[in-house]
Amino acid sequence: MPTALIILAAGQGTRMQSDRPKVLHEVAGAPLLAHALAAGAALSPERTIIVSGHGAEAVQAAALDVDPEVQIAVQAEQRGTAHAVAQAAAALEGFRGDAIVLYGDTPFIRPETLRAMAEARSRHAIVVLGFEPADPGRYGRLVMAGDALDRIVEYKEASEAERAIPLCNSGVIAADCGLLMELIAEIGNDNAAGEYYLTDAVALARARGLSAGVVICDEAETLGVNSRADLARAEAAFQARARAEAMETGVTLIAPETVFFAHDTVVGRDALIEPNVIFGPGVTVESGARIRAFSHLEGCHVSRGAIVGPFARLRPGAELSEDVRIGNFVEVKNAQIAEGAKINHLSYIGDATVGEAANIGAGTVTCNYDGVFKHRTEIGARAFIGSDTMLVAPVRIGEGAMTGSGSVITSDVAAGALALGRARQENKPGLARKLFERLRAEKERRKPI
Ligand code: UD1
Ligand code: CA
Repeated sequence: MPTALIILAAGQGTRMQSDRPKVLHEVAGAPLLAHALAAGAALSPERTIIVSGHGAEAVQAAALDVDPEVQIAVQAEQRGTAHAVAQAAAALEGFRGDAIVLYGDTPFIRPETLRAMAEARSRHAIVVLGFEPADPGRYGRLVMAGDALDRIVEYKEASEAERAIPLCNSGVIAADCGLLMELIAEIGNDNAAGEYYLTDAVALARARGLSAGVVICDEAETLGVNSRADLARAEAAFQARARAEAMETGVTLIAPETVFFAHDTVVGRDALIEPNVIFGPGVTVESGARIRAFSHLEGCHVSRGAIVGPFARLRPGAELSEDVRIGNFVEVKNAQIAEGAKINHLSYIGDATVGEAANIGAGTVTCNYDGVFKHRTEIGARAFIGSDTMLVAPVRIGEGAMTGSGSVITSDVAAGALALGRARQENKPGLARKLFERLRAEKERRKPI
């Protein structure tokens, strides 16, 4: 069945106290909206429409980043969830199939849950995602008639007896798109909030003799973000799940609660992550690699058997081949480091290629930026870069070449050559002693009498 995904994201998000639209706040390095889109992707939607309010342009830009085909519908005034869905009508012109409505601020709906809803649609005209929260609070309640759903009652409208119902509405709803739009056209706003409630669609469907069903999910999936505290809770929930998943798939975490994953981190079996490691987006760590304490990785690839850190920083485009060593206080950016190469201490390697088994001495810097342009440094296999070498790019160091410690290398070095780019040392016998004598005499002279 072709599916259209409608994501509601027009809410003000006042309690976030932010200039940024709520759905662009991030969990695990990705906007809330991207999490909702990722969940919806499980249904391979033919169309995706995001209903946005103020900040629509920023929301659109972020959405297009995730999926270049999403459409944005603008709901200028927030008049309720049914009114929000109605704004998607133009973008759904000519679409035949199912529509599923998600909230942009609810990042954790599992793909399996959405698939269960799509499956339940074969039995019911309209399917609602319900859950039984520990504290049902002010959620809408699902009023059942046997195994089927009879209607949804908003908390504000509910009687005492209805408020006692433990089964709540998550807000996720699926129905034939044409039917949903027809039902929405019938929904009024004669209620306690003066809003157009999407939830009224269920009773209207039942009045047509259609059947409604419920799929039940875990409360954790429905966690919504309305405040910074909710955002922190969502982050914690994400991290708890990611850590558990990593360990289940054979990753050792010495202190799991100190490791932070991104939404897309991939770590292979038998990799070991030491305490206090942070993964930004776009990281892959292969089997058997070891990430030592206090390292920060983002947009990089770490191959089998490589060891990174402690205190290392891998930035976007860092690609480490097998058995590479990146040691303490080393930063690598947009650089390919070939098998067995070592960069063990206090270095910056950016916009570079480092050949197999090359050894980069402590304090080496690729001077890649001239203030306007970035330039590349190429270091050949088995080259030996002496400590404190400045490699002023663009520059090439040949295979097996060597640079003397403290060199500033501004021109290419041929394979097998030794490059010395530093002042020659001069020793002055006895001069240190004389200098000290003079300085101490001066100190005596300045003492108050
Ligand atoms: C809604 C449901 C309620 C359910 C709860 C679950 C309705 C009438 N009620 O209530 O049954 O238990 O969610 O969290 O649907 N939005 C718009 N435009 C609008 C109004 C809302 O885009 O005009 C978006 C919001 O940004 C938000 C979502 O829709 O992402 C839900 O809106 P919200 O006002 O939070 O609904 P609730 O009153 O919590
Ligand atoms: Ca809400």
